Amino acid sequence: MTITPTISPLVLKAARAPKAELHIHIEGSLEPELIFALAQRNHVELAYASIEALRAAYAFTDLQSFLDIYYAGASVLLTEQDFYDMTMAYCERALADNVVHTEIFFDPQTHTERGVPIETVVAGIDRALADAEKRGLTSKLILCFLRHLSEADALATFDAALPLFARYPRMIGVGLDSSERGHPPSKFERVFAKARAQGLKLVAHAGEEGPPAYIYEALDLLKVDRVDHGVRSIEDKALVTRLADTRVALTVCPLSNLKLCVFDDMTKHTLKKLLDEGVAVTVNSDDPAYFGGYVNENFSAIITALQLDDQEVYTILRNSFEASFVTPEERAALIAKLDRYWSGAVA
Ligand code: HPA
Ligand code: ZN
Repeated sequence: MTITPTISPLVLKAARAPKAELHIHIEGSLEPELIFALAQRNHVELAYASIEALRAAYAFTDLQSFLDIYYAGASVLLTEQDFYDMTMAYCERALADNVVHTEIFFDPQTHTERGVPIETVVAGIDRALADAEKRGLTSKLILCFLRHLSEADALATFDAALPLFARYPRMIGVGLDSSERGHPPSKFERVFAKARAQGLKLVAHAGEEGPPAYIYEALDLLKVDRVDHGVRSIEDKALVTRLADTRVALTVCPLSNLKLCVFDDMTKHTLKKLLDEGVAVTVNSDDPAYFGGYVNENFSAIITALQLDDQEVYTILRNSFEASFVTPEERAALIAKLDRYWSGAVA
């Protein structure tokens, strides 16, 4: 006798719903198969003998143990076509998950450090996003600074990127990622002030592994529009109240949190508590090739573990559009699309 697992009607309803993804590192969408294909195409030597050996190394104990492998994986990206192929592979997966709008992070310093010009990186990613847009997936691009590198490096990266913000309308903001512990947002106050002066949108990873104090710094010093992860905000009641009152959204990534041991079990995830407190949480994939799932797998895992109900799932989906960097007209159209779907579908 074979036992077929039943998918809960609400998981299915969420999977088919139109949604925005607001926290995805494009380099984290590189599947092992594509890493090996690009390594071969570019004659790059990998430290792993096979796809299976690489995948077997995906047993992370914390953020840094993941980042070491993530940067090694990105070393195969050299040409504009490589960045196109990586981005198009992500777009295919996003379209399959009914993502209608995505806001993508990229890490230029990971590539410029290896001699790949930032223009090559952006041209490849943007060309794929333009092609995906013809198939119903709109997008924005957010340049992330690597926080383990110096402030001077971030400032130089920003200066090099300035002409690209003008040339690529899809590039609308800056973010902050990589090793959080020991690299507080305050280290990047000046480069964020420069970005703000250019009218760019601002986001930062904070409170993934770092303390609530880093979330305060992201809000007060960097003046971010959204906080990436932010799950440790739950440790500070005043901070939770502030996030709820100001509607500064958190881009939560459940499978990432589980794989990087932020929570040791999905049932201990704090997403529902944050939702109950009125915080604008969203659900996202972070680095889907490394953490075992794209956005719909994140919805499935969190709905099941926390036994979310119809209204809670709707709120999370709606938050994804509320917190996105689209125009008010685009936002209204996206929410209307969600509402039409949600009221017509039965869970
Ligand atoms: N945290 C910090 N930096 C990152 C991550 C993350 O989850 N993914 C890729 N860079
Ligand atoms: Zn992230």
